[in-house]
Amino acid sequence: MAKVITFASQKGGVGKTTSAVHLATAFALGGYKTLLVDLDPQGSVHHSLGTEKNSSLGIREVFCTPEISLQEIITTGKHQNLDLLLSNIQELLTEQTVNKIAQDYYHVSQWIEKNTSDLYEFIIMDAPASTSSLSINAMIAADFIIVPLECETLAIKSLKRFLQAFKVLQITIEPRLRLAGILLTMYDENIISHRQVCKQICKTLGESVFETVIPNCPHILEASNLGIDVIQRHLNSAGATGYIRLANELLDRFLLPKSEKTN
Ligand SMILES: Nc1ncnc2c1ncn2[C@@H]1O[C@H](COP(=O)(O)OP(=O)(O)O)[C@@H](O)[C@H]1O
Ligand SMILES: [Mg+2]
Repeated sequence: MAKVITFASQKGGVGKTTSAVHLATAFALGGYKTLLVDLDPQGSVHHSLGTEKNSSLGIREVFCTPEISLQEIITTGKHQNLDLLLSNIQELLTEQTVNKIAQDYYHVSQWIEKNTSDLYEFIIMDAPASTSSLSINAMIAADFIIVPLECETLAIKSLKRFLQAFKVLQITIEPRLRLAGILLTMYDENIISHRQVCKQICKTLGESVFETVIPNCPHILEASNLGIDVIQRHLNSAGATGYIRLANELLDRFLLPKSEKTN
C-alpha cells in the first residue's frame, strides 16, 4: 500500500507545489514508483513540470466520474517512475461541483484505496492554500502531512493559525490526523530574520521540525519557469540537494522501506 504524503498550508507561496514536485521527483529518481496528485484548482504542478498532457482528464474525474480507471486519467511524467494526476478543475463551475462532492471528506482517501492498490510506493499530494474541503480531503487521505513554512517573520503567525485550524479538524472531523512535520523553505542564511525565524520555530516545535531546511535557491525558480524540475536541471544546486535530503530524512524518520536502487 502506498504511503500518502500531503503538503498543506493555509498560506500560498510557501513552497507547497515546489516541495510536492521535488519530493515526488526525488522518490521517482530514487527508484520508487510515485504518483504526484495536484488537488489545487490553480494547477501549478503542470506548469512546474511542463508536462505534455496526454488527455484533458485528471483530478476532476476522481470526483465527477469516480468509476473511471486510474490508467485513463494519469499523465506519464518525465521520469520512468513518476505518474501525474493533474488538476483540471480551473473552471469555476467545475471547481464548485468538485468542492461540493469534496464535502465528503473521505472521497479522495476512499478513491485512492480502491484505485491505486499496489501500483505505487508513494503518493504525493499538493493541496490548495486553504482549509477548504479539497484540502481536508488531501489531509484525510495522508499518512504524513507536511506543512511548508517560508522563513519569514509572518511565518510564525501563519503557522499558529494553521495549527489551531488543524486542532479543530482533529477534534471535529478526524482524530487520527497527524502532522509529520514542519518544513522550513526558502531559507537564506545571510538574512538575519530568516536565522531568527528558523531558531525560534526549532526552539518552539523541536522535533516537529524537519532537520532538512530547503534553502532559497534561484535555480528552483529558473527551472520552474522552464517547466523542469531542479533535480534534473541542476543536480548539484542547493535546492536539488535539499529535496533529496528531505526524501532521505522521511525514509529514515518514519522507517520506510528503502528502495533497492538507493541502497
Ligand atoms: N527554495 C526555493 N527557492 C527559491 N524559490 C522558491 C523556492 N521554493 C519555491 N520557490 C518559488 O516560490 C514561489 C512559490 O512557491 P510554490 O511552491 O508555488 O508555493 P505554494 O504552492 O505554497 O503556493 C514559486 O515561484 C517557486 O518557484
Ligand atoms: Mg501551489
